[in-house]
Amino acid sequence: MRIGIAGKGGVGKTTIAATMARLAARSGATVIAIDADSNPNLAPALGLDRAIVGHPLPVSVVSKRLDGPALTATVDSVLVEHGTAGPDGVVLLSMGGPAHAGEGCLCSAHATVGAVLGDLDGSTGGPDDSGGSDSSDTVTVVDMEASPEQLSRGTVRNVDVLLLVAEPYFRSLETVRRLAPLAAELSIARVAVIANKLRSAADGEAVAEFCARHDLSLLASVPYDAAVADADVAGRPLLDVAPDSPAVAAIEALARRLHAVSTAGG
Ligand SMILES: Nc1ncnc2c1ncn2[C@@H]1O[C@H](COP(=O)(O)OP(=O)(O)OP(=O)(O)O)[C@@H](O)[C@H]1O
Ligand SMILES: [Mg+2]
Repeated sequence: MRIGIAGKGGVGKTTIAATMARLAARSGATVIAIDADSNPNLAPALGLDRAIVGHPLPVSVVSKRLDGPALTATVDSVLVEHGTAGPDGVVLLSMGGPAHAGEGCLCSAHATVGAVLGDLDGSTGGPDDSGGSDSSDTVTVVDMEASPEQLSRGTVRNVDVLLLVAEPYFRSLETVRRLAPLAAELSIARVAVIANKLRSAADGEAVAEFCARHDLSLLASVPYDAAVADADVAGRPLLDVAPDSPAVAAIEALARRLHAVSTAGG
């Protein structure tokens, strides 16, 4: 299952992506975490030391074809060559960002992510008969940029699920409302909202009401939790600093719910 995580800047995409990735790995899945943000932050959120994180995906892994970008090698070899193994066995691939000011657009970097996603298997269950990294128990988590660009470009057209993270305030919810139709145009099979940083029952009700009004599916909620900020201040993963925190429990429940609806096909 390939899971994209999108939403307005600062809503909690990286926190949720990193925590979900490690929890999925602990439950036995092969997990690939893709940092698709040109301002990359997923490595420290996973617990990877900057010193051991390899180079970003080089643009040479992709060739541009008439029907879109395609990998020039197998996805397994791309993972071996360019992935960095992190805590709980999560393998990180990074899109990387601009190396220099004024170098222009990052089209080729986006294309690497699109091509990798296209070649990773998206099935959500069933027997693992290949033993490779594209086997059916592989979970791919994509930490996306805080802009509609990866939807407008179609970078994430091959995700099976798009999680739209929103805080309980208008501009954040409006962002989700704008992203959802783009996901629908890409025919992404499942699109759901995750409410984050809820401080009260009223916050939860406000998000639920917004989702109902705009025909958005609200999959799960994560409370505001000071442990998340504390982990951030310490520069360490939430899962290591506060494994018993309410935020981790909520992200665990979200992952279980996602697995249940995906395998049920509902
Ligand atoms: N449930 C939560 N409770 C409290 N603070 C949170 C929660 N989730 C995220 N945060 C805080 O919100 C800030 C942004 O989180 P994070 O970096 O995960 O967001 P993001 O959406 O990935 O941001 P960006 O758009 O910059 O990539 C961080 O300071 C983080 O500690
Ligand atoms: Mg982020």
